[in-house]
Amino acid sequence: MENENLKKIISMPRLGDDAPSFSAVTTQGDINFPEDYKGRWVILFSHPADFTPVCSSEFITFAGMEQQFKDAGCDLVGLSVDGLYSHIAWLRTIKEKLSYKGNSDVEVNFPLIEDISMNVAKMYGMIQPGEDTTKAVRAVFFIDPVGKIRTIIYYPLSLGRNFDELYRVLQALKTADAFDVATPADWRPGDDVIVGPAGSCGTAKDRMDGKEDMTCQDWFFCSKKLDKDAVLKAVKG
Ligand code: BEZ
Repeated sequence: MENENLKKIISMPRLGDDAPSFSAVTTQGDINFPEDYKGRWVILFSHPADFTPVCSSEFITFAGMEQQFKDAGCDLVGLSVDGLYSHIAWLRTIKEKLSYKGNSDVEVNFPLIEDISMNVAKMYGMIQPGEDTTKAVRAVFFIDPVGKIRTIIYYPLSLGRNFDELYRVLQALKTADAFDVATPADWRPGDDVIVGPAGSCGTAKDRMDGKEDMTCQDWFFCSKKLDKDAVLKAVKG
């Protein structure tokens, strides 16, 4: 019965929605989300619990990439349903005692939200009762500079995230926006991009006849080259 009640009060934001607003206490002071991040990309991500091994390996990895994300115009904000003093003690332990894949002495400088009430976790669909009723799953929300949710990825408690993939997602989203294209499977900067389907028979014929700056294998499958440096510049912009 308790699970049924929990299911009812959990909301699930969707792609294209405005990121739900909230104020929170973090390890870096109070924040108003997403308002404080307007004009930049921001990744809001949750982890199940402080003082757990998979989460610790994730924080060491993500903290080590924070500057890379910042250089791409993207801030990081973490969350779990632990309290502020637990967060502070855990982050200190990570810095003083833990190493992962050769990285040690790692300082986590991005804000980590305390959410003992689970208000934010519930608002963002991070509590998924089939997985766990008292811990957030590993959720990742990519929110764009106007505060819209552009990508959501959920991982179960047992599965540590691939942070290179999260960076690739950010690069792909920014490239799609900057060049009005889509990115195919396993795309990386420098690879060809996908051009949207032709809107009219004339356009489709021009494409197939090679009159446009693209290669078409069929009317619906057209790609074109993008200069890698231009892509990397757009990603940093
Ligand atoms: C972990 O981060 O190691 C973890 C957290 C919750 C459940 C299982 C693993």
